[in-house]
Amino acid sequence: MIDLTKIEYFTEATSVDAVVGRNGPGAHKRLAEVWASLVKHLHAFAKDIELRPEEWDLAIDFLTRTGQLCDENRQEFVLLSDVIGLSMLTDAINHRRPPGATENTVLGPFHVVGAPEFEMGANISLDGKGESCLFEGRVLDTDGNPIEGARIDVWCDNEDGYYDVQQPDIQPKWNNRGIFTTGEDGTYQFRGVKPVSYPIPHDGPVGQLLIQLDRHPYRPAHMHYMVTATGFEKIVTHTFVGSDEYLKSDAVFGVKATLAAPFEPNPGGVTKWHSPFDFIMVPAGSAEAAE
Ligand code: BEZ
Ligand code: FE
Repeated sequence: MIDLTKIEYFTEATSVDAVVGRNGPGAHKRLAEVWASLVKHLHAFAKDIELRPEEWDLAIDFLTRTGQLCDENRQEFVLLSDVIGLSMLTDAINHRRPPGATENTVLGPFHVVGAPEFEMGANISLDGKGESCLFEGRVLDTDGNPIEGARIDVWCDNEDGYYDVQQPDIQPKWNNRGIFTTGEDGTYQFRGVKPVSYPIPHDGPVGQLLIQLDRHPYRPAHMHYMVTATGFEKIVTHTFVGSDEYLKSDAVFGVKATLAAPFEPNPGGVTKWHSPFDFIMVPAGSAEAAE
């Protein structure tokens, strides 16, 4: 007969040890580490707020609806990660760069692999809508040397605040997208439109959450960039229109002071606006590794 009084059962006080201690010796090492921390913090959270059953039911229902909305075109869980700041925190932990190097920001759900490749100077605005803008600058290493062969993948919304993939029946495919490759001097130049601020998709559970938190769903106007070059760490970032009203309250916390770019009037130029910005790349593998 087992003496049941000698067994450490799950109690409010022993909850973390009871769950974490259940792992066997064959548990995956990193998963066990992540699991132990997750259980510790989640149990502390439940104890801290004295979680009520009806609140936990609500949370399970919220997470269920979040998952049910996900398919190949809509990723509601990524949106949840974005609005809770976890996307940006994960990015920050994994892309610690020296001062002066271009900072990363959130990738977002609207990048599409395989955009058309253009010659420098090409116009990526295919619908002709919006205020024209010349984007130009250099891709440099941290010593100021030009990087040849850097691929600059760019994408942004149109004048109405939508990406082409959100309006496949309205916008031309690949509208406001393109890939440019630098030559020997490391410079880039392309024409497009001045981006406008837009709301993240907010017709689902994440949008309802924002309403309940009295938060708006807007992102400040930005141009997306993914810059890759052999021997350098990939940059996934945006330049923000430096005068945007949502810079201080980006729904996904993607703004960094160094990414606010000038959007200047361009009198006499072929475009209405001019936005200069240099990208500074660090050597691959030089980012401080997360322990
Ligand atoms: C975006 O900038 O495209 C984006 C980022 C996070 C969530 C939604 C959109
Ligand atoms: Fe965006």
